[in-house]
Amino acid sequence: MIDPTPVLEVEHLQIDFLTRRGTVHAVRDVSFTIGRGETLGLVGESGSGKSVTAQALLGMIELPGRIVGGDVRWKGESLVRGPHVRRTIERVRGQEIAMVFQDPMTSLDPVFTVGSQVVEVLRRHRRLSRKAAKARAVELLDIVGIANPTERISQYPFEMSGGMRQRVLIAMALACEPELLVADEPTTALDVTIQAQILELVAELQQELRLAVLLITHDLGVVAGVCDRVAVMYAGKIVEDAPAADLYATPAHPYSAALLRSTPRLDIVLDRLVAIEGAPPDLRRPPAGCAFATRCPFAIDHCREEQPRLEVFEPVPNAVGAGDAETLEELEQPARTERTVACFRAAEVREEVLS
Ligand SMILES: Nc1ncnc2c1ncn2[C@@H]1O[C@H](COP(=O)(O)OP(=O)(O)OP(=O)(O)O)[C@@H](O)[C@H]1O
Ligand code: SF4
Ligand SMILES: [Mg+2]
Repeated sequence: MIDPTPVLEVEHLQIDFLTRRGTVHAVRDVSFTIGRGETLGLVGESGSGKSVTAQALLGMIELPGRIVGGDVRWKGESLVRGPHVRRTIERVRGQEIAMVFQDPMTSLDPVFTVGSQVVEVLRRHRRLSRKAAKARAVELLDIVGIANPTERISQYPFEMSGGMRQRVLIAMALACEPELLVADEPTTALDVTIQAQILELVAELQQELRLAVLLITHDLGVVAGVCDRVAVMYAGKIVEDAPAADLYATPAHPYSAALLRSTPRLDIVLDRLVAIEGAPPDLRRPPAGCAFATRCPFAIDHCREEQPRLEVFEPVPNAVGAGDAETLEELEQPARTERTVACFRAAEVREEVLS
C-alpha cells in the first residue's frame, strides 16, 4: 500500500552548469513528490536532466554545476540549504536514500570480492561485527536472487555477468535498509531478458520492503508495469506527471504521446513505431515559450510566446474515488490520482489520443 504523504519533495529545482561556452540551464523549475512506498518513473530523452535531478537529491551536484533555485526536502528537512545541510546529507545518503547507477562494473571495485564489498557497507553503516555482516551479506545476495550466495560471495566482479553485478549493487543499496531507492538507468547496460528480471526484482523488493523508488530511464517501456506514477521530462522541465496507467492509456502532453508512439511495448502491438523528429532546444538559450514547440504538431503562436505551466488537469478517468471503490482494498489504496500537464492544448491532445 502506498502512503501518499511525501517522503521526498522536490520543489522548483533549478540547476545550471557554467561552461566556457555559456551557462547551461539543465534543470528548469522541476517539482515532484514521492510518497512512502511509491514508485515514480522519471522518463525523458537523453540530456533532458534526469540524472542531474537525481544527483541533486544527495548533494552530488559539483562544479561547474550549481543548484541555483528551489529545494529538495527529505521528510521535511532540506537537502539543499541551511546550516546543517552537509550533516543531513551524510546521515541520509546510503542510509535512508540509496542509489544504483547504470554501469555496475564501474560502481564495483574490481580488486575486492563482491562479498567483501557488501560486508564493508554493512560494517560502515550498520556497525555489524564481521561475522554478522558476512551472514547478512549472504542473506542480501539471496534476497536479490543470486543463486548459491555462500559461494558467490567470494567471487570478484569480473567473474560475474552484468545482470549479476547489478544484483550485487542492489544488494549493497539495500544493505542499509533505505526508504528510497534511486535507480538511474539500472538496466540500460543489460540485455532485454536480464532487464526484465532486474525490474521484476525492483518491483518485488518495493512491495516486500515498502520501499519508495525513483526509477530513471529514457525508455517508457521500462517503467510500464513497475511504476505507480510517471513524470515525463523534456528540456529540463517536467511536462506531465500522472498515474502510470493513465499516462499510458491517454497521454495529455504531445511529448508524452510522441514518446509512447516511439517506444516498443510488450503489452500492446503498435502499427508502427514513430520516431520523434527534430531535436530539443539548446539549453544555453532556452526558448521564451514552450520548449517542445519546434517539434510539436499541436503548436500555435501562443506556444512560442509563453511558457505553459505544470497545472492540474482533468478528473482522471481510471482513478478510483472513495465513492467508486468496490472493495476494501481499493478504499485502502490511497494512491495519488492527480495528473499535472504543462501544455496549453492538453485537453485537445487527449481528445485526439482518445479518438
Ligand atoms: N558536468 C557537466 N558539465 C556541463 N553540462 C552538464 C554536465 N552534466 C550535465 N550537464 C548538462 O545537463 C544536461 C542534462 O544532463 P543529464 O545527465 O541530467 O541528462 P539525462 O536526462 O540523464 O540524459 P541521459 O538519458 O543521456 O542519461 C546535459 O544535456 C548537459 O547539458
Ligand atoms: S504548449 Fe503548445 S507547443 Fe507546447 S506541447 Fe502544448 S501544444 Fe505543443
Ligand atoms: Mg542520465
